Amino acid sequence: MVTKVLFVCLGNICRSPTAHGVMAQKIVERGLIKRIRVDSAGTSDWHLGSLPDPRTLLAAKTRGYDLSDQRGRQVTRGDFDEFDFILAMDQQNLANLERIKPRHFAGHLGLFLDFLPNQPLREVPDPYHGGTQGFEQVLDLVEASCDALLTHILTTA
Ligand code: 4NP
Repeated sequence: MVTKVLFVCLGNICRSPTAHGVMAQKIVERGLIKRIRVDSAGTSDWHLGSLPDPRTLLAAKTRGYDLSDQRGRQVTRGDFDEFDFILAMDQQNLANLERIKPRHFAGHLGLFLDFLPNQPLREVPDPYHGGTQGFEQVLDLVEASCDALLTHILTTA
């Protein structure tokens, strides 16, 4: 069985591409490429076809993640037919996803950080309007939550 995961943020140039790239690398490292597939999208159409933000690319590259194959796209209702887990970076993303979710969707729609208990944040903070430290925080949260999500998928799905 293949489990498909979609990470969703607002612009699809900072947070969800980071989660996409980190998860993809963990999947390769653990020999799970036939078991788990991953993608990302934004709730907005602001950055269609764009590379991730240069600050996102650099911060990820510094930790060994290559995001340069990724291009911005907008989430669609059709994604609910394709993906088993649709994971929002913040409450606003989640509210927008709830609005377009088809009634028949039987997968998991929720906040990405719900897989990461024992830490105070429920949302991955948007780093777009801040400094470089915000991009490091995104990576810290994403790396930890991807590990927790992988454990969840491998033990339950
Ligand atoms: P993301 O960050 O949702 O993590 O990709 C943002 C990227 C772009 C904008 C806002 C947030 N923007 O306003 O263009």
